[in-house]
Order: sequence, then structure tokens, then C-alpha cells
Amino acid sequence: MMVRSGSRHLRKTLLSAGAAVALAAGLLAGVSTPSQAAASLSCDVYAAGGTPCVAAHSTTRALYGSYNGALYQVRRSSDNATRDIGLLSAGGYADAAAQDSFCAGTTCLITVIYDQSGRGNHLRQAPPGGFPGPAPGGYDNLANATAAPTMINGHKAYGVYVAPGTGYRNNATNGVAKGDQPEGMYAVFDGTHYNGGCCFDYGNAETNGRDNGNGTMEAIYFGNIKVWGYGTGNGPWVMADLENGLFSGVNPGYNANDPTVSHRYLTAIVKGEPNHWAIRAGNAQSGGLSTFYNGPRPNAPGYNPMKKEGAIILGIGGDNSHGSAGTFYEGVMTSGYPSDATENAVQAGIVAAGYTTTPGGGPGGTLTPGSSISLRATTSCCTDRFIRHQNDRAVTSVITSSSSSVDKNDATWIVRTGLAAASCVSFESKNYPGDYLRHQNYQLYRQHNDGSALFAADATFCPQTGKSGQGVSLASANFPDRFVRHYNNTVYIASEGGSHDFDSASAWADDVSWLVDRPWA
Ligand code: AHR
Repeated sequence: MMVRSGSRHLRKTLLSAGAAVALAAGLLAGVSTPSQAAASLSCDVYAAGGTPCVAAHSTTRALYGSYNGALYQVRRSSDNATRDIGLLSAGGYADAAAQDSFCAGTTCLITVIYDQSGRGNHLRQAPPGGFPGPAPGGYDNLANATAAPTMINGHKAYGVYVAPGTGYRNNATNGVAKGDQPEGMYAVFDGTHYNGGCCFDYGNAETNGRDNGNGTMEAIYFGNIKVWGYGTGNGPWVMADLENGLFSGVNPGYNANDPTVSHRYLTAIVKGEPNHWAIRAGNAQSGGLSTFYNGPRPNAPGYNPMKKEGAIILGIGGDNSHGSAGTFYEGVMTSGYPSDATENAVQAGIVAAGYTTTPGGGPGGTLTPGSSISLRATTSCCTDRFIRHQNDRAVTSVITSSSSSVDKNDATWIVRTGLAAASCVSFESKNYPGDYLRHQNYQLYRQHNDGSALFAADATFCPQTGKSGQGVSLASANFPDRFVRHYNNTVYIASEGGSHDFDSASAWADDVSWLVDRPWA
């Protein structure tokens, strides 16, 4: 029997995101003029709260209203030339077109992620530490510069795509917390890109790339490794990497208040001060932050007081473990322990920045005809499961990077303009061209298009905002009160509280909400 847990709903702000950040930043700064506060970006908000950024990294946007420098550097393979990628305007968004033109006809790697704080805490290719990386000299790999495209406020940009083996580091920083000094940090990640390797981190680490013992690092971790800590569901979880332990709360191992979170754009926060730390997170596209832990240092020796060393890492563990995967868009580290109110204002600014996956970014906006996608379940039991066909039936299966090519192909669909309605979509099988997902007696199958009007209608689904607030829900074109739903790992069209067992109202909103993910094949 599948374990079903209740849906998670993050607090929704009553103010518009832009108004919220303006108001919150204005309050923090002790000013009341919204026009002044409206220009406040993440690090302006932290400064107004008395906890200024000492490092600010982003490949997508400025993190100070006045910043007009380079965001990152790329190197192209054709001639090894490098180019700094800057902003479209001061305090604005990345000039992705500059990257596209510089990298046209060749490939580019991200070589430097510049620190916008003025402290020179730039991130570069991580050197060997406790573990050597896979690149020459034992360095880690650099990220492919085009592997994590995104939109932000209608502008194209690129995130930092961390495949296992990739890592960035700065072992000689300026102003970053040491010892038991207080600090805060946030990062915006792709909540659908993670793995169970150690350790997709952003934050404070050892300055020699080695495991120097409990408490020698303090970083945000995101992923579903269960070797140390974990929370509810199957993960991924936001946890704190404090060295020799990923902590989801006060206990080593399980903490019930740390939920699985998989928002496509995820704000993740860790902060720490003497014998006190917290984990917070939220949907970077809407709403506020939830606090998953706020309390004393872990019930384990060596973490109080902390012995932070002040290096900065991205995509790796403190000892240069590099088995992890994830995508990073932006993040900062602060001097001082930020208040929840400051972070709430930063979150409002992140939401206002407008991360989306495609131009427009509306409901179903990611389902672009012609694109290949995979559909990931969002119910906490099942966030590693994807809709795939198996013996002609549509089911959900756990698919990972080590799944077979057959499984990956079975879980990949080409979005087509709806066979029965141009405003809706159909899903053609990747490995069985001409076959589509269709329902029959309310159950979904992969079947060949017989050209009939009934097949077209049965194979057409109309996307709308996910019923749980996450992803998309897919209404059947000819049974519009029924939505594509997984139930006991089989896929149906279901109406909430209807007469079949698969219509069960329990977990319905989560079961009918799907993340449109990168294609597995
Ligand atoms: O704390 C978890 C990991 O343990 C750290 O990132 C790494 O340095 C060590 O292997």
C-alpha cells in the first residue's frame, strides 16, 4: 500500500511580491518611500537589516540595485578565449545574448562566478581536497554554460548546472564568518534537479578542501542523500552541511519537520550563530518562506561551538566530495545572523524577480509543442516517479540517471499541439512515434493514433496551474472535471471524490499536480 502524506502548502503572501519587498525593505531601512525601496535587491535588503552580504553570486541577475559589473565568465572550447557576461542594465538581468553570441558554434564552460559584494569572493574551479576531482590536476569539472537555461522577468539567462564531478570553490575569502561567528545564506536552486551523492552545497567550508572535523563547515545542502540526516517523504530535502553530517534538525538522522521540497525554483536558507541555527525554504516563484528548523545546535559532539573556516563552496562537499548534482541560480552569504523578517523581504524580492522556465511562464507554459519532457509526480511519497509506459499501460516508475535507456525512453514524451484542441496538448511517446498517452475507461495507456475523433479527444489534455500550487494539472479534454492522476503507481483521469477508488479525495491535489521536467531521453 502506497504511503500517502498530506499536501504541503507554503504560506501565501497577501501583498504582491513587488509591494512586499518594497514595503519590507522600506521598513527594514527605516524609510517609507516605496520608490526608494522598490530598487532594493537581495543584498540591499540584507544590508538594511544590519546583516550585509559578504558574498553574492548569481549568473542570472544583479543582487544589488546598483550593481553593474560582470556576473560570470565563460570560456569557449574552440579557442579557449574567455568572456565576462554582464547585465542588460544596472541592477538588472544577465546579458545571455552576449554568451549566446560568444559561444555560437562551440561549447562554453562557466569559469568564474563573480562576487558582487566587492570583497572579491569569486568562485572558481574547485581544487583537489580530501578527494581529487575528475579534471586535470585533480580539479573539479566546470559547468556547461548552456545546460541550465531559464527565464527571469522575461529575459533568457543561464544557471550553473552541476553534474557529478562539477565544483566551485574559494579558499581565500574576505569577510566570511569564521569560528562561531554568525552568518546567513540563501540560494535559489532547481528543486527538480538533485541526487543522492555527496554533497550539493553552497556556503561556508574548510579552507584546505579537507574534512577538518565536525563543525568546520556550515553550508546549505539540497538533495536526497540519507547517509546522515533526512526528513519526511523521499526527498529532496534542504539541510545544513555542518561537516560529517547533513542536519535536518536537532537530531542526527531523521527530523519530522523537514519536508520533501521540490519546487522548480526553490529558495533554500541556512543560518547559524552561537548555539543556534535554522533551516528555511520556500517556492522561489510565489509565496513566502517556511521554517523547517529553528533551535540549538545538533545533539551531537563537535558542533557547539562551531569552527567555521570561511571558504566558500558550490556543488561539492567540504572535503571536495563531488558525487552530487543540482542547479544554482543565485546565492549570498552574510555577515551576522539575518532576522526572519529580513529573509522574508529577500524572498519577496526573489519572487518579484520572476523566475520561469519559458517565455511567459504561465500555467502549462512549460509544455511547448515540439519539446521533449518528462512528467514528475509531486506527491511527497513519489517525487522520484515519472509517468512512463510499460506493457502499453501508463504507470509511474522511479527513474534515475542510472535507469536503463529503455526506462528513460519510456518516461519521455514529446509535447504536441492537442490532437483535439489547439489550446491544449497531447503527449507522443518518445520511443513509439505515432503513439500517444490516451485514456480509456478512465485509465491511461500508450496507444497508436487511429485518426479517430475519439482517440484525439482521449489523447488531449488541457494544462492549468497545478491543483496543489505546484507544476501543472492536466484536464482531460473530453472529461474536463477529470485530471491526470497517479494512484497506486497507475495513471488515470480522476475527479476529486468521485466513485472510483482512484478518485479518492485523499492526496488528490498533489496526485494531479505534475512537474514538467527535463526529458530523460
Ligand atoms: O557533512 C557531509 C560531508 O561529509 C561533507 O560535505 C564532507 O566534507 C564530508 O564527507
